[in-house]
Amino acid sequence: MKINNCYNFQDFKKAAKRTLPSPVFHYIDGAADDEVTYDRNTKAYEEVDLVPSVLNDVENVDLSTTLFGKKLDMPLYCAPTALQRLFHYDGERAVAMAAQKYGTMFGISSLGTVSAEEIGSLITTPKMFQFYFHKDRGLNDSILQRAKLAKFDVLALTVDTITGGNRERDLRTGFTSPPKLTINSLFSFASKPVWVWNYLTKPKFELPHLKDHISEGTSTATSIGSYFSSMLDQTMNWKDAENLCAKWGGHFALKGIMSVEDAKRAVDIGCTGVIVSNHGGRQLDGSRAPFDQLAEIVDAVGDKIDIVCEGGIQRGTHVLKAISVGAKACSGGRLYLYALATAGQKGVERALELYKGELERDMKLMGCNKLEQLHRGNLRFRS
Ligand code: LAC
Repeated sequence: MKINNCYNFQDFKKAAKRTLPSPVFHYIDGAADDEVTYDRNTKAYEEVDLVPSVLNDVENVDLSTTLFGKKLDMPLYCAPTALQRLFHYDGERAVAMAAQKYGTMFGISSLGTVSAEEIGSLITTPKMFQFYFHKDRGLNDSILQRAKLAKFDVLALTVDTITGGNRERDLRTGFTSPPKLTINSLFSFASKPVWVWNYLTKPKFELPHLKDHISEGTSTATSIGSYFSSMLDQTMNWKDAENLCAKWGGHFALKGIMSVEDAKRAVDIGCTGVIVSNHGGRQLDGSRAPFDQLAEIVDAVGDKIDIVCEGGIQRGTHVLKAISVGAKACSGGRLYLYALATAGQKGVERALELYKGELERDMKLMGCNKLEQLHRGNLRFRS
């Protein structure tokens, strides 16, 4: 499917499935256990209806929001995701450039395949660095320093990957980083010769933030589940998060907060935001959807810190529902990754163009010019 024939999330997903070897596609698309939470993340939005208002002169719509002290031209950004070089040979460069074009934030992962330095010199728009708390404290210090020197605007400590989620699709396909050929996956790689050609001939796959410290993930093939379980520090606690926040000294968010108690504690340790997220359903299956959990977190801490609602977003209306409840912005991974896999930077631009178009159209149909005009009164929960 050509990128210009893709009109929505599902189209991008179909196109990515045709482009990627199945272990790589299922790594992106898969989630934990029975993938109940993955489904629920989107379904949660479908159980709430919008109540529009009319006759409000909506010729001009302003989609901008302020998040972590930075203005974003729209309330949806590209969440940090790992291993992007495997999805397209331009990887994070493509996503960063597309995000810059649409004036929104780009997040890079500790498991990113392009360095913080390169991204720092590539774009001038807001940047988030996603931080994994490794057992190796030298590695943690190095990542922190590099993100700081590259002038990232916000550090997001992931707190929902204390051990690897049970991603059965990855177990079946044998997906690892870097990918390795197995008897089972041989056919799926052989059936995508363009991907194999690009993988072998374009800039080499590497994990620049890790490679001088550990071999796992860069030169030693490992599954993401075992990476989390063996390389990340399971003793991580509130004191560690507080110390990291103080060491960083700038905007700091916890990514993967789901409870009111934890959101309140995030405020106490000095966070300037929380990202309400269950890691795209990839960690604890049966966990509540971020959108279902949003209202109580907004009520508890929404006047003190920024709240991002992440996961399950496939439509502009999903974003408007989360903003109506009180999120400052929304984010997601798959919502741009399938497009990245299909057509690199052009693909991500197409995805962001479609989301922006939907947001503008949906704001007009809601009778709103500014995001602040959205509120819980324009929502009805069915149950
Ligand atoms: C994931 C990590 C790496 O695979 O974010 O979910």
